[in-house]
This record gives sequence, C-alpha cells and structure tokens, in this order.
Amino acid sequence: MSSYEARFKVWRGDVQGGGLEDFEVEVNDGEVVLDIIHRLQATQAPDLAVRWNCKAGKCGSCSAEINGRPRLMCMTRMSVFGRDETVTVTPLRTFPVIRDLVTDVGFNYTKARQVPAFVPPEGLGPGEYRMMQEDVDRSQEFRKCIECFLCQDTCHVVRDHEENKQAFAGPRFLMRVAELDMHPLDAAEESGLDRKRTAQDEHGLGYCNITKCCTEVCPEGIRITDNALIPLKERAVDRKYDPLVWLGNKIRRRPASSG
Ligand code: SF4
Ligand code: SF4
Ligand code: FES
Repeated sequence: MSSYEARFKVWRGDVQGGGLEDFEVEVNDGEVVLDIIHRLQATQAPDLAVRWNCKAGKCGSCSAEINGRPRLMCMTRMSVFGRDETVTVTPLRTFPVIRDLVTDVGFNYTKARQVPAFVPPEGLGPGEYRMMQEDVDRSQEFRKCIECFLCQDTCHVVRDHEENKQAFAGPRFLMRVAELDMHPLDAAEESGLDRKRTAQDEHGLGYCNITKCCTEVCPEGIRITDNALIPLKERAVDRKYDPLVWLGNKIRRRPASSG
C-alpha cells in the first residue's frame, strides 16, 4: 500500500462567517474524500463538523463541493486528483451554513411538503394496481433518488438567487411532480388537482431553462432533465394549447363569471 501527504483546504466557520483552513494529511490507496475528512477529525481538527451516515453513496447526507463541484464525499475517490493537487472542500453553496461542512437543507423539506402525494385510484385497493412495465420503469428511475440535494445545490435558478427560492421547487421536486403526473394510476385530476398547472404556477417549472446542470451532478445517474423536466414542460404546454382543454376550461369558467 502506498501513501502520501495531500494538501487540503477545508471551509471552517458558521453562520457568522468563516474561511478556508489549510491542512496536510495522509492519504492511502483506495481512500475517498470522506476518509480524509475523518482523518482530519481524528488527528488535527476534532471539532470539524461534517454530516454523513452510510459511506456507501446511499443516504445522501455527505454532499459538499469538492474543488467547486457538488459531489458526495464518500463517493469521490482521492485517485481522481493529482497527488500534488490541493483539494478544496466547501459546504453546499445554495443552503445556509450551520457549521463547517454542514448546511441547513430545510429548504428541500419545505418543497417536498408542497408536492401533493399520490392520489390512489378509486375502487382499487393496494395489491390490485396493474401497470405496464414501461410505466414501472419510468417511476423506478426517479425513485433511485437518494435526496442528496446536489441537483438542488447546482441549479442556477436558486444557486445565486435567494429570491427565487420561494417560487421554485428545484429539479428534485419538479421531478417528483413529473413522476406523479406521468403515473398511470394517479387520480389527481379526478380529485380536482391539476399537477401540470401546479407545476407551472406553484413549483416554478417555467424558471427551468433545461441547462441539464442538475443531471450532470446526480450521483444516481437519473436523467432529471431529459426524462422528467422536459416531458413535464411538454405536457404542461400540450394542456395549455389543447383546444378541447381550452374549451373545457371556458365552459367550466362560464357559470362563475356570469354569476
Ligand atoms: S435543467 Fe432546469 S432544474 Fe436542472 S439545473 Fe438547469 S434550470 Fe435547474
Ligand atoms: S435527483 Fe439525483 S442529485 Fe437530485 S437529490 Fe436525487 S439523487 Fe441527488
Ligand atoms: S455518507 Fe451516505 S451518501 Fe455519503
């Protein structure tokens, strides 16, 4: 086994402010960035705050920015960096810092609560649902999400624009709306909930200009833009310009406007 001393810069601080701190730290074959952060805690910075749970790319809690790129610390091998390269680790930029590498990701939980849940079809009990395999596959892709929020961190709509957070759910939750809207058994419309309209009016679908940055950082390889956001945009537009829908809306609106 070979080892070497790596140069690290790690952001230390809290809500009041902070800055990058320099470290020289041992790295061994096969290690990932999270191993190095743990070694720093064990040897040089016992109070360094970091959030992690599984060290297997499955819990989504060790998200950070490594050399400026949003990544999971436990899935980023040290071997992707040159031995004389300085590795910089900073907290997710889009969310408020609590301390060191730990941020407050509560924004995402607020947005999650704003997406109405699956509406079960009437007259069918669990176990009686039948779906085409391709519909199952579509949902399965979205359900690989580990809620690391790297896509939310990356999206330029909120990354540098705090003011957009109110109106924009972000790629992870627009993907959830898309999943439910494309779900063949979701009975939202029958219950009066128009998911396409809420995607536009309440979750800010129009802010997304399909740059695909969210897709590029997803550690699960979910094709967020191609398979969720673009189809949702197309469905929302189809609905808006479908003459039957237009007529239906007009007829439905008439009694209210005339009364
Ligand atoms: S594709 Fe849309 S949601 Fe994804 S990063 Fe770009 S603007 Fe944000
Ligand atoms: S969609 Fe991908 S990047 Fe976004 S929260 Fe889920 S796993 Fe993370
Ligand atoms: S520690 Fe769970 S994803 Fe990294």
